[in-house]
Amino acid sequence: MTTRAVVKGVGHYLPERVVPNAEFEKSLDTSDEWIRTRSGIERRHFAAEDETTSDLASFAAMAALKDAGLSADDIDAIVVATSTPDLTFPSVATMVQQKIGMTRGFGFDVQAVCAGFVYALTNANALILSGQAKRVLVIGAETFSRIMDWTDRATCVLFGDGAGALILEAQEGTGVNADRGVLSADLNSDGRYKDMLFVDGGVSTTGDSGKLRMQGNALFRQAVEKLTSTAHTALTKVGLTDEAVDWIVPHQANIRIIQGTAKKLGVPMDRVIVTVQDHGNTSAASIPLALSTGVAEGKIKQGDLLVTEAIGGGLAWGAVVIRW
Ligand code: UT7
Repeated sequence: MTTRAVVKGVGHYLPERVVPNAEFEKSLDTSDEWIRTRSGIERRHFAAEDETTSDLASFAAMAALKDAGLSADDIDAIVVATSTPDLTFPSVATMVQQKIGMTRGFGFDVQAVCAGFVYALTNANALILSGQAKRVLVIGAETFSRIMDWTDRATCVLFGDGAGALILEAQEGTGVNADRGVLSADLNSDGRYKDMLFVDGGVSTTGDSGKLRMQGNALFRQAVEKLTSTAHTALTKVGLTDEAVDWIVPHQANIRIIQGTAKKLGVPMDRVIVTVQDHGNTSAASIPLALSTGVAEGKIKQGDLLVTEAIGGGLAWGAVVIRW
C-alpha cells in the first residue's frame, strides 16, 4: 500500500467586477483586437478596493469545502500560493484560517509567482506523504491588479484577480499510476532569469510593494520549451507518456503559449482546459481556477489523468501529474 494525496474537493472565486479589453482603449494606445490576438484574453476580473487576496482565497476555500462535504476543522493544513499577500506578514494562509473558522492545524504561504500553485501542490503532497497532515487545503490566490503599472500597456492588459482551491486527502493507493491522487511532480527554478519578470519594489529594497515589469517576448520564448520539458519529465517519472493524458491544465498566461506547449506534447486542444479568455493571467490562481472551471463544465471527471504546468517569475517552473 502507498499513501496518495487524493483530490476531495475543488472550488473557486472571482471578484464581481469584469473588465473587458475595450475598457483599456480609453486610457492606453491599445485595442481589443491586439489583446485578443496576441494573448487570447478577452476580459478579466478585478477585486473591489476593499477586497484582499485573503478574502478571495477564503471564498474559494469555502467553495472547495462545500464541494468536499467537509468543514474547516476537518482540515489539518492550509498552503496558499500567492505573490500578492494582504500584508508582508502574517501569511495569507493564517488569515484564511481565521476567515473560514479553522481553529486547529497550521498554515503557510508559498511564493513561486505564476508557478506558485504547482509548488504549493507539491508541498501539500509532501505534507501528506510524510504524515504531517491528512487533509490539506491548497489555494492559489492573487490580486495582481494591485501591482500593475496602469501606464504600461505591455503588462497591465494581461493580468487579473481571482482564487482557486483544492482539498487533498490522504488515501491508500496501490502504488501504481492507475491510483487516484498526485502521482508525480517536477520543480525547477533558475535565478539568472530574474530580470525577465519581477516587481520593482519590496520590503528590503524600496520599502513599497512596487510594480510588475516583464520582458514578455523573451519570456514567451522560454515558456513553451520549459513547460514542454517539465511536463514530459513529470510524466516520465511515473512511466506515463503524452498519450495517457486526458487533460492538460496549464497556467493561463497566453493562448499562444498554451497552444504551442500542447502541440509539442502532442495533445490536441480539445483536451486542454482554457480559461485565459475569461480570467486573463491570474498568476498562482490560474491553475486552480482552471481546474475548478473544468470540473464545473463537466470536462474533468474522476479517474482522468491531468498534467498541470506553469512558469513565471524567477524564473520558476514545474508540472504536477494528478489522477483526478
Ligand atoms: O505568467 C507568467 C508568464 N508570462 C508569460 O509567459 C507571458 C509571456 N509573453 C507573452 O505572453 C507575450 O510576449 C505578450 C502577450 C506579453 C506580448 O506579445 P508579443 O507577441 O510577444 O508582442 P511584443 O512584446 O513582441 O510586442 C509587439 C508589439 C510592440 O510594438 P513594436 O515594438 O513592434 O512597435 C509592442 O510595443 O506590440 C506592442 N504592444 C502593444 N500594442 C498594443 C505591446 N503591448 C501592446 C498593447 N497594445 N497592449
